[in-house]
Amino acid sequence: MVPKMDSSIPTEPQNTDSAHQGFTWGVSTSSYQIEGAAREDGRGPSIWDTHCRKIGRVCNGDTGDVACDHYHRYVDDVALMRDLGVKAYRFSVAWPRVMPNGRGAPNEPGLIFYDRLLDALSVAGIEPWLCLYHWDLPQALDDLGGWINRDSAGWFADYAALIARRYGDRVKRFATFNEPSVFTFLGYGRGTDAPDNVGVATLPRAIHHVNLAHGAAVDVLRALVPGASIGAIHSWQPCRPSEPTEEKAAELFDTYWNRAFPDPQLLGHYPPAVIHTVEPYIEAGDIARICRPIDWLGLNHYSPIYAKSAANGPLGIAFTDPPAGMPRSPIGWPIDPDAFREILLHLHQRYSLPIYVLENGIGGPDKLDEAGQIIDTYRIEYLQAYTDAMHVAITTGADVRGYFVWSLLDNFEWNSGYGTRFGLVYVDYPTLRRIPKASFRWYRDLIKGKTEIELRKPAAIRISSGAGSP
Ligand code: FCB
Repeated sequence: MVPKMDSSIPTEPQNTDSAHQGFTWGVSTSSYQIEGAAREDGRGPSIWDTHCRKIGRVCNGDTGDVACDHYHRYVDDVALMRDLGVKAYRFSVAWPRVMPNGRGAPNEPGLIFYDRLLDALSVAGIEPWLCLYHWDLPQALDDLGGWINRDSAGWFADYAALIARRYGDRVKRFATFNEPSVFTFLGYGRGTDAPDNVGVATLPRAIHHVNLAHGAAVDVLRALVPGASIGAIHSWQPCRPSEPTEEKAAELFDTYWNRAFPDPQLLGHYPPAVIHTVEPYIEAGDIARICRPIDWLGLNHYSPIYAKSAANGPLGIAFTDPPAGMPRSPIGWPIDPDAFREILLHLHQRYSLPIYVLENGIGGPDKLDEAGQIIDTYRIEYLQAYTDAMHVAITTGADVRGYFVWSLLDNFEWNSGYGTRFGLVYVDYPTLRRIPKASFRWYRDLIKGKTEIELRKPAAIRISSGAGSP
């Protein structure tokens, strides 16, 4: 079920996106998933370093210690992006690399790494899109309660100020958080992801404090970076009932997963089902602190969710498998390009902001063939079908201004470790060699050959078996 439109919401986008020039094709990555160099040049530990060391949490006991070794190979990776032809690169800064304790003294060698990355991007003509937070909270802050501590909003604002002052001359595109609903639900609700802090009211407190931190960071960026173009990146997935009797579970899932962050940030109120859990933590003036004007909405989307009620799940809800016969990716995520189109139109109407798709892609256990290549036809079919759906959304009115594939490189896929690969470029982990896949060439052609996406019939996508959802 795609959430219903609210007719009271304005449908005309505000013209807030002054940095916009034509359609932006890009790729996305995140710090913990690619950088490695976990103990180099003064980087402090993050909650994911801690999580990876808990037995049985991450597949094969994988860690981000080395990851793609991007920290040492960023020059090669920028060269790959230049060959790909993207004009934009979304990455995140590792907070514990630039502020090892999360607050207090900055770490100059860590800051220099991003200076160099920005220089390389500038020479390659690629615009940096800097996300402040992609899940790698400094462990020292989690020791103080992390996002369940209300002080976290102030810590985040100070970190944002450091980044704004250091890079604001070269970076104009800033995002505050990546997928706040995902990391709060999985880390403070379900407890499968870092920091696995599940207790009384941890989830509502984390939700409210991350919202406050978003608003505080927007103000800091606006004040310190002339010409900043600021957004927030949200995951939005239609939540469907596993069977008709589960409609309520699906609605509750939709409320927390899709609206607990964008609604207060952009509409100035929590959804009714969230407000009663969050209310005890709201202080006078908080909603105004959260609802700060931003310039664009970042959307991450891969698939719909199938939901059911579950007595032992957070909020009494859980992910479940899609119905038999639904096309699925090799890792079991449902494939439904129409849902993507509907969401783009829905978000356009609901929030009236320009939309950038900042993650879309498909994961699988890619392996080199005998010729030493990766012919990832399933990825090309998926990307074709999803960019076609986006095109239909654009031609029917959605103000979508950019599309970024997740991801440039195969990388550390959180609890799935290195076995699940989302890259346009294969990473041979023993040697760290990069090998562009067939999908890399497909995307390069799409960018090069077309100023507009062509409409094509969505390709048939194979049905696979595999586990349900994130
Ligand atoms: C998103 C995350 C990203 C990556 C993709 C596959 O939820 O933002 O880091 O793991 O899923």
